[in-house]
Order: sequence, then C-alpha cells, then structure tokens
Amino acid sequence: MTDTTTAEPKAGESHQFQAEVAELLRLMVHSVYSETDVFLRELISNASDACDRLRYEAIANPDLLVEDAGLRIRLTPDKDAGTLTIADNGIGMNRQELIDNLGTVARSGTRAFMDKLAEAKDGTSLIGQFGVGFYSAFMVADRITVTSRRAGSSEAFVWTSTGGAGFDIAAADDAAAARVKRGTEIVLHLKDDAKKYLEPYEIRRVVSTYSDHILFPIELVEGDKSDKVNSASALWQRPKSELKPEDYKQAYQTIAHAFDDPAMTLHYKAEGRQAYAVLLFAPSTRPFDLFDPSRKGHVKLYVRRVYITDDADLMPSWLRFIRGVVDSEDLPLNISREMLQNNPQVAAMRKALTGRVITELESLAEKDAEAFGKIWDAFGAVIKEGIYEDHERRDALLKLARFDTTTGKARTLKQYVADFKPNQTEIYFLVGDSADRLKSNPKLEAARARGIEVLLLSDPVDAFWTMMPSDFDGKPLKSLSKGDVDFGLIPLTDEKDETKPEDKGETDEATVIAAVKLALGERVADVKASSRLADSPACLVASQAGPGLEIERLLSRQNRGSGAKPILELNMKHALVRAVGAAQKASNENDVNDLSALLFEQAQILDGEVPDDPAAFAARVNRLVARGLGA
Ligand SMILES: Nc1ncnc2c1ncn2[C@@H]1O[C@H](COP(=O)(O)OP(=O)(O)O)[C@@H](O)[C@H]1O
Ligand SMILES: [Mg+2]
Repeated sequence: MTDTTTAEPKAGESHQFQAEVAELLRLMVHSVYSETDVFLRELISNASDACDRLRYEAIANPDLLVEDAGLRIRLTPDKDAGTLTIADNGIGMNRQELIDNLGTVARSGTRAFMDKLAEAKDGTSLIGQFGVGFYSAFMVADRITVTSRRAGSSEAFVWTSTGGAGFDIAAADDAAAARVKRGTEIVLHLKDDAKKYLEPYEIRRVVSTYSDHILFPIELVEGDKSDKVNSASALWQRPKSELKPEDYKQAYQTIAHAFDDPAMTLHYKAEGRQAYAVLLFAPSTRPFDLFDPSRKGHVKLYVRRVYITDDADLMPSWLRFIRGVVDSEDLPLNISREMLQNNPQVAAMRKALTGRVITELESLAEKDAEAFGKIWDAFGAVIKEGIYEDHERRDALLKLARFDTTTGKARTLKQYVADFKPNQTEIYFLVGDSADRLKSNPKLEAARARGIEVLLLSDPVDAFWTMMPSDFDGKPLKSLSKGDVDFGLIPLTDEKDETKPEDKGETDEATVIAAVKLALGERVADVKASSRLADSPACLVASQAGPGLEIERLLSRQNRGSGAKPILELNMKHALVRAVGAAQKASNENDVNDLSALLFEQAQILDGEVPDDPAAFAARVNRLVARGLGA
C-alpha cells in the first residue's frame, strides 16, 4: 500500500458484465421470487469452497496457513448500516480473478440455468431449483462490495456493483486491506424487503436449514461475541445411528450443490487393506451436465478430512451421476491431482465403490421398486453405458436394467424370460429413436402374431451396447432388425395374421426378388423374403455379420459409417409385392422400378428415416397413384 493510494484512493476501474450475467442480474434485481434464502446458502458454499482450496494449496505451501490457521466463515449483521457481511479466510481472489469470476457466468450449473431461462416464461421459479451462485445475492442486496485478498498476496482489491451493467474494481483502502488479511469479505447492502436477514434468528434458521454440514465453522457475530451456528462436522465420519434422513438430505444438497432429494443414500466405512469413509447419493433428477461429453464423475475425494479434488475418477463414467464424498485415511495428503490418475489405491477404491453401488442399487430394486424406478428413469441411459464398457459388470447391469417392451413398462429380463412363449429361446429387441414409434414398426408384426414380447430400446446408448453379442441367463439377445429371425417353432396366437397367400396372382418369389434387387441396385445389400412381417409389405434389416442398422445410421449421420447397406425384406403375400411380380410379367419396367423404390423408401420411413431424395419419393408416389387412377 503506497502513500498515494492512502491519500487519494485510485478511482475504480469500470468493467462491463458479460451479457449473460447482465441478463441474470436483471432477473435477480426484479425477482419476485420469495425463497430468497438461497443467497446465503450460495455465499456460504463459495466461502467453504474457498477454505477447501486454501487448505489444499497449503499442503504444498504451509506458509499460507501459518498466520491464521483456523479456517472459518463469519456472518456479521449490522442493523445500523443495513448490511450483512459474509467473510471467509480462505483462498481469496486477486484482481483478475475478481474480474473473471464475478463478471462472467463460469459454472455449468449457471449456464444450464441460463439455457432453461431462455425457454421458461417465468424465470424466477427456476432460481431456487438451480441456485445461481454468487449472483443470487442481488435478490436481497442492491449494492454489493467484495473485498478480497489472495492468500499470500500483499494486495487486496475491492469489487463493487449495484447489479446494473457492470462493476468497479479498485485497490482496497488501508482500512479494508487491514480488515481482509486473507480471503474474501462480501458486504451486502440489503434491500428494504430483505432486512429480515439482519435478524440473528433468521440467519440461524437459514444456516441450519441449508448449511449445517458445511465442514468449516460458521460463526454468527453479534456485537462483540460470536457463536458457531452450524455443526461443522464431517457427516460421513459420524455413525449412521446418529443421523436422520434430513441430515442426509442436507448433506447431499450441500455436497452435490443439488436441490432435489437423494433417491438413494449409501453410507459406510471401509476397513481392511484401506480405510475410508463413504457417503454416496443417487440424485432423483437428472443434472444438466449428465450428457456432457467429458462424462466426468462428481465424487469428491478427501484425505483425512481435507478436500483434495472431485476429479479423482472414483466412479466409472457410467456412474457419473453418483454424488458424494470418499474420505481416505491412507492416501498421502500431498498427493497431486495428477498422481491420482494412476494410483493403485485409488483404482482399488474405485473397484470396491463400483461394486458397492451396484449391490446397493440391486437391493433397492428389491426393497423399494418405486425409488429404484426413479433412479432408473433418470439414469438408466447412463448405467447402460456400463453394459458396453464394463465387461466384468455386464451381467449385473443387465440384471439391473429395466425395459419398456411391447407388453409392459419397466420390465426386467428375468420377468421377460419367465414369460417366454413355448419354444422361445431368444430375447428379442428392437432399437429406434422413440418407444412409441417402435411400437408401430412392421418388424414387430410376426412377433406380435405369436404374442412374443419385444424390448423397445430407444435410448441413444442402446444402439451401442446391443452391438455386442450378449445373453441373459443363457438366452441370447437378438435384434429384430438384424440377420434372420425364425419364429417357426413358436405357435401363432392370432391365426388370422398369417393368412395363406391366395393362389391367384401368386408369383414366383425368386423372380420378384430378382426384379426388386435389380431395380434398387446399389441401395441394398440384398433382397429377401421376410418371415417377420404380417401386414406390411417391406422392412429393412442389417446383415447378421455387420454393424446394426441403427448404429450404422448413427455413424453415417456423422460421416463415420462403414458403408454397409441394408437388406430389404419383402412380405411375399402383400399386394404391393405381388404387383411387382405382375409388372415384371408384363415387362413394365417403369412400374417395377417405381414400386421397388416405394417399397424401399416406405421401409426407411417406418424406421424413422427420411428417404434420401424426398422430392423423388413424392413424385414417384404421385406417379403411381395417378397411374392407378387411370389419370
Ligand atoms: N468467497 C469466495 N472466495 C474465493 N472465490 C470465490 C468466492 N466466492 C466466489 N468465488 C469465485 O467466484 C466463482 C463464482 O461463484 P459462483 O457464482 O457461486 O459459482 P460456483 O461456486 O459454482 O463456481 C467461484 O467459482 C469462485 O472462483
Ligand atoms: Mg458457488
């Protein structure tokens, strides 16, 4: 601090908020949202993160903590000034960090909020559901002053904003610099309708509702005395018998930055080769980054109560929705985040944790089908990635999986197999974009005529895991759109579906097939008589050897297809197919070509595809209809 600064504090330098922030602030300032309590939860959570980060940096650089080792968060209401101050002695921010962190929308949760906001008419109801971090303070304050000093730095800076278009940054004056020796002090100038947050009992209420399990002491300063208002204990270290569902719920919401209820809670201590405490949760709703390409997990690693990272890959990607904490007694405190990548102890923990989570999901499925159903609805699409990625767990995951089928919802493979039709030996499935559309796919017709249940798989991941041959309980899973199917030994339940072809007009199968094949040329790998159709004239299937039809479509949309062509199967009893034969006999080449293309393209449409050339498709249909009408 130089003399010039003291005598004449440098004028604040003005900065504009990033456009998204300005938008967010407009919403905060004009918010009529009544659950304003969330602002305190957000600021305390930031303060706690800052203490965690300092403690982590201090492992390598203990000097950072020597002067003031007791990390804490301090809340000071000042009725005369109308301010509430939230101060921590954590990591702090330097000038650039103040500009970057409090001027842009950094975190993914807030981004997701912005996306939702664009869709929603009334954004305010979304605030509580997301918690929009630091900016939520503008719900209760019309002016905010943040004074911060990065740990170890000789300078402190002040950030001020009234929530308009921008903020000011200046060097802290002597008094402020003396007050904030390390960490961050946030002074909220409360709006008139938020003055209740000056009342100690209100502050206690909010802290105990939302922030009781913050690991660092939260002190409430009243006059010259201060009082710890949270339990500040590592909940995962406490015995289960002491804890109530509300405790777990709050811990979940604190640890996961979540706002829903946990659908499953797993709390135990591992002892043996390694000792560690585990507190894991399955959320009940999907977080917004669930399908983020990074597929990163969110379980936090602590070592002897010190937060290390949430980047330690303690869960496989297909369990990335699991939240919580693993607190190791054995890992060295100074383990770097990089070293964790190849650490055998971490690998052993991951394996054991994965097994435990699966076991817990299995027993939840048995004990409380409804709770399990919630988890499966939200995360089944992610868990199924494990069938594909984790050979060792494939059987367990197939057993856990729930499927929509032609006969019911949330069916297990065990139930499916128990309801096998006489002589049925395979588990049938069909993959597509939507379960509803799959229900009307012609490939189901022959199965339906026999009352055979078919799994309707409509998650994007289904195209992947079904690529690999798998079986359940010794029964192979078999795609109805790949290779040949033979229901021959399974009796019909519905005789009328299998009408015998009328003799009149029946044409030689081989001739028709050859004619269609010639007409379609390169567009198909082959043309065959179908045994899976009853009412529809045609469908497309993949060869048994190549990739599935659905995966090939997915990949060719990204220009990564193998170039494998589909096989067109024809229902030899269908009038349209017989018409090909008739046209062939009459040497009417135009009709043969148009009919063949029509059969192919309508099969594409029934699979949810668009014909390669929609205009040609329409022209062809019109031509055929016009000819049929004699026009
Ligand atoms: N008390 C604080 N100490 C240090 N850094 C902070 C503090 N409060 C906020 N920050 C910084 O501002 C960023 C934005 O905070 P916030 O909007 O709550 O989002 P999030 O906490 O999810 O990152 C934080 O990531 C952090 O870098
Ligand atoms: Mg935050």
